[in-house]
Amino acid sequence: MVILVVRIGGNERMVENSLPKRLREYRDLSDGELTQLIEGNEYEDELMEEADAVRRLHYGTDVYIRGLIELTNYCKNDCYYCGIRKGNGQLTRYRLSMEDVLACCATGYELGFRTFVLQGGEDLYFTDERICEVVAAIRSRHPDCAITLSLGEKSYEGYLAFYEAGATRYLLRHETANPEHYGKLHPSTMDGGNRQRCLWDIKKIGYQVGSGFMVGSPYQTTACLLEDVRFLQELNPDMIGIGPYLSHKDTPFAHHANGDLHKCLRLVSILRLLFPHALIPATTALGTIDERGRERGLLAGANVVMPNLSPTNVRSLYSLYDNKIHTMEEAAESRRALERRAASIGYRVVTHVGHVKRD
Ligand code: 5AD
Repeated sequence: MVILVVRIGGNERMVENSLPKRLREYRDLSDGELTQLIEGNEYEDELMEEADAVRRLHYGTDVYIRGLIELTNYCKNDCYYCGIRKGNGQLTRYRLSMEDVLACCATGYELGFRTFVLQGGEDLYFTDERICEVVAAIRSRHPDCAITLSLGEKSYEGYLAFYEAGATRYLLRHETANPEHYGKLHPSTMDGGNRQRCLWDIKKIGYQVGSGFMVGSPYQTTACLLEDVRFLQELNPDMIGIGPYLSHKDTPFAHHANGDLHKCLRLVSILRLLFPHALIPATTALGTIDERGRERGLLAGANVVMPNLSPTNVRSLYSLYDNKIHTMEEAAESRRALERRAASIGYRVVTHVGHVKRD
């Protein structure tokens, strides 16, 4: 172990010359150093160990669970990577009714879920008013639960109305912070700047805000990932969702290779060390690319899992990418399976509301 003496704020300090340890201590590194960690080097095991230690420091072995309800697979957008894009004529479209949503929540509540995540494409049927109605209905039936929305880009007024109706968390991945890269993943009608504007609006209103990106999306470079990390440092989100890009056969990117599991795990660890208190899910995409991907995500520093509470007959239709894990297990069974999986690696599923912890 090499020990360096560095001057920080006028004081001389001894630091260990290991990138993961320095990232843990300073919650930051230079562009060059982060690049090394993203691309992978001899510190890989240490990176994961440090990330797990930091996660244990703040969250112990607790795994927070969120019940995911996939509200609609209609979408007005045409993102080149996404299976529910408007241009996919192969897909049977559905939207859940109010009764469906409330039934999902009731089942979820019985199973111990205290956060419901309403996720969906940007479906014009779901006007701001209709979204507010759904939120208010869940709120009145489950006042002790958190409602998270993940319904895409809206106006400031829209976000404010959802908040006033009772939603307190919002997930909106920025997808990529690099404008050129954004332009390669989306049609010209879409604008990464507007997406970022949405995130700042969401934060300003007072939501716990979540952002994130795909790892290994087509045309992504390490420099793009570095920009993603820098953008997140600016935004300082409460929740960060990342997962490997996975191809979908009915998209323009059908023939692009999937993202890399290990790179994604490294990024989970880097994000844990940069954002010690963040809620970081071991995503469905991680669980899809590798049978034990979600466990690996937890071991790399993630502390949230979002099992599917959607009605089993629509799960296969919410196909963002091929082979998405959507066992026809009933929610109760997958809830038990999740508990076993978490226990197999020394973690424990907890059922409280699971807010972010801050310094
Ligand atoms: N592979 C991996 N993730 C995807 N998403 C959309 N399509 C894909 C894909 N093909 C992610 C996006 C979106 C989130 C809901 O799912 O990052 O924000």
